Amino acid sequence: MTRHWQTVCEHADLAQGRFVEFSLTDDTGAEGEQSGFAFEREGRLYAYLNRCPHLGIELNWMPGRFMDLDNCFIQCANHAALFIPENGQCIAGPCQGDALTPLEVTEDGGAILVRAPE
Ligand code: FES
Repeated sequence: MTRHWQTVCEHADLAQGRFVEFSLTDDTGAEGEQSGFAFEREGRLYAYLNRCPHLGIELNWMPGRFMDLDNCFIQCANHAALFIPENGQCIAGPCQGDALTPLEVTEDGGAILVRAPE
């Protein structure tokens, strides 16, 4: 994965707790195999790879649906692992003690940008 900032959506797209999914691109702008998701919680921006540490597959089955019913934890749709939204730590499920892979996320002029961590 290369390290470059990539615009994934507008800040307004994250209103009302919405999650935005995207494919990570390489330096040429071509979409790669990896996908991610971004969201805003309590005024802070977060983004992670959409990859469950249990089996390395995408977390969600429904587009934009990542949270549990109580809207407290990110929940893997496959085997119901629960992750703390603010740090990606898995606190229950088959990958307990593991974590989601965070992406760097920032805002610039109303656009949300992400890049892979070092
Ligand atoms: S693939 Fe996510 S809990 Fe099994």
